[in-house]
Amino acid sequence: MEPTPINLNNRRILLGITGGIAAYKAAELTRRFQDQGADVRIIMTRSATEFITPLTMQALSKHPVHLDLLNPDTESVMGHIELARWADLILIAPASANFLARFASGHGDDLLTTVCLAAECPVAIAPAMNQAMWSKAATQSNRSTLLSRGAHILGPDEGLQACGETGAGRLMAVDDLVLRASALFSTGALQGKTVVITAGPTREAIDPVRYISNHSSGKQGYALAAAASDAGAHVILISGPTHLAVPDRVTAINVVSALDMHEAVQSVIDQADIFIGVAAVADYRPTIAANQKIKKNQDGQRSLTLEFIENPDIIKAVAQRPDRPFTVGFAAETEHLETHAKQKLVNKQLDLVVANNVANTDIGFNADDNAITVVYHDGSRVLPMMSKRALSERLVEIIAQRLSST
Ligand code: C5P
Repeated sequence: MEPTPINLNNRRILLGITGGIAAYKAAELTRRFQDQGADVRIIMTRSATEFITPLTMQALSKHPVHLDLLNPDTESVMGHIELARWADLILIAPASANFLARFASGHGDDLLTTVCLAAECPVAIAPAMNQAMWSKAATQSNRSTLLSRGAHILGPDEGLQACGETGAGRLMAVDDLVLRASALFSTGALQGKTVVITAGPTREAIDPVRYISNHSSGKQGYALAAAASDAGAHVILISGPTHLAVPDRVTAINVVSALDMHEAVQSVIDQADIFIGVAAVADYRPTIAANQKIKKNQDGQRSLTLEFIENPDIIKAVAQRPDRPFTVGFAAETEHLETHAKQKLVNKQLDLVVANNVANTDIGFNADDNAITVVYHDGSRVLPMMSKRALSERLVEIIAQRLSST
């Protein structure tokens, strides 16, 4: 059976192209990675540009091609260290004998070797050259050196070469390169899954300048979004107003009111494998939001009465869908944590409820730490006080385990 490439959604591949007749295959390779969902950026050596134009690669990758070390234009877009940090995988295809020699001897005098030196992510090299060049002791020794330092060498294939000779030295077939490169990504617990998360407070308008809200900071929801994304998921974060930065690779949809949040969730929920409702959604909103600012002491009134109407229960609506995702709710409680969480699990038909004690001001709402009890239909687990980030990683593991056993 044909092995299928893993999902490369949100994966960042830095493709280095060196000078060789196989450079034209980098165009097809870029397209194939993009078909799997990867974001591809390109570095070309000067000699690569003799074989395929940077314009072609720019049009395909939809980003400026990086050609020179310390070029003010491209360095200002993304400098060489940033490029190295940006990548989840660096693949050099085709890699010339010259590149192998320069990388093996630790050179850092052009952009590609410098980025490879600075890289902390896996580096894969797909050599392509004349068979005699490949078989030379110098090239084989460079290959061994690079392998011993942790580089992945993909190919080369054997066969008829552009120079008319036959032997080992052809660039590995594009299909195989995609498969082999895909396999180098660490497959996190939520690889290939889409997770929709709500976070933060909602604001319910009273008039154009006033609203009712709560103290939710959004920290727990954002931390979960980061942890799910690190575990390989495509994360859609639907957030009420917060001051937090959107985590790397997470798609954010900003909303204000509970009605907005409900609408945003409904618009993406059919993509979701997992829904996590972390938002502190206002249960009620003013029945009428005044069009103009409400004036003080109007008609001598010394009191003001507002009428409220119930907001939709966003998570309940998700859980009631026939094709429901694995649905996780949060429960902020001040007492009888587990009992109340269990009730919520049943009443809202959830798969899992995360309960935290908001009576303790060191944890919960605005704090950086949290301690939770995870409640599911056939049991529960207590996770002691730790940072919201560490807690999120543990929670992602639990969710992934339970999802795979449903
Ligand atoms: O009912 P309660 O507000 O205690 O439930 C909390 C859980 O329900 C949280 O997961 C929260 O995000 C979600 N919720 C919601 N829509 C509401 C109220 C709460 O999705 N209107």
